[in-house]
Amino acid sequence: MPILLSDEAVQQYHRDGYCFPVPVLSRDEAAHYRHSLEQHEAKTGTPLQGNWRHKTHLLFTWADELAHHPKILDAVEDAIGPDILCWTTNFFIKEASNPGFVSWHQDSTYWGLDPDDVITAWVAFTDVTPENGCMQVIPGSHKVNQLPHTDTFHKDNLLSRGQEIAVDVDKSKAVSMVLKAGEMSLHHIKLVHGSDPNRSKDRRIGLAIRYIPTHVRQTKVRDSAMLVRGTDKYHNFDYEPRPQADLDEAALRAHADAVERQVKALYQGTSKQEFRA
Ligand code: NI
Repeated sequence: MPILLSDEAVQQYHRDGYCFPVPVLSRDEAAHYRHSLEQHEAKTGTPLQGNWRHKTHLLFTWADELAHHPKILDAVEDAIGPDILCWTTNFFIKEASNPGFVSWHQDSTYWGLDPDDVITAWVAFTDVTPENGCMQVIPGSHKVNQLPHTDTFHKDNLLSRGQEIAVDVDKSKAVSMVLKAGEMSLHHIKLVHGSDPNRSKDRRIGLAIRYIPTHVRQTKVRDSAMLVRGTDKYHNFDYEPRPQADLDEAALRAHADAVERQVKALYQGTSKQEFRA
């Protein structure tokens, strides 16, 4: 028996490579997390950017709380089993009326993780609609092999290398993952997905939390991750500490160390030293 997901949702995840919507937060809780992010942005005077959009759960207690949220982990356990590492978090923020987009891609392209039972919990901080650029997915595409990708480094592309699939994607098959604030979608590392710009008058904010079962390995670098549920008999990753206070010295140090490893893996073969802004 699954803990949180329905049997149908679990079956759909394995068959189609995704399922949604999964309600995990109330609207008030979603608003609280948005407020936590925006309070920080108000202090710095800029949207969260660069390295801080990645592995954000190592910097802020509220993001760490989300990475450990029991409902999110219950759903993730239903899909990948009880021994779970959080590998990374990535904010996907699309500003109002902004050209930022995500090209069609498979997450597996540069991550270096093996085997491919890697799941993303994409948690909506705002309502997510076709108008504001919700994620679109191609059902069942996680069952095809790794597709060739081209690095574009396009300035409006929100992906690390602006990578896009080098063959035609049949967009007529695309499904829009519409979510209310506080709901999440789940998707498989090899699922073909992308999203359009935000044409609405408000920001579109989602936090992608990437989870792996403890047997998964990083093939490119000695990587780090955080054990968030169960036990780890493999020790394939060095452990990251939970932040004790927002942006305290230990948190900043742990984040810098973790991001350095991740940048090495994701940008292997390029000269990049940090995430693009
Ligand atoms: Ni992706």
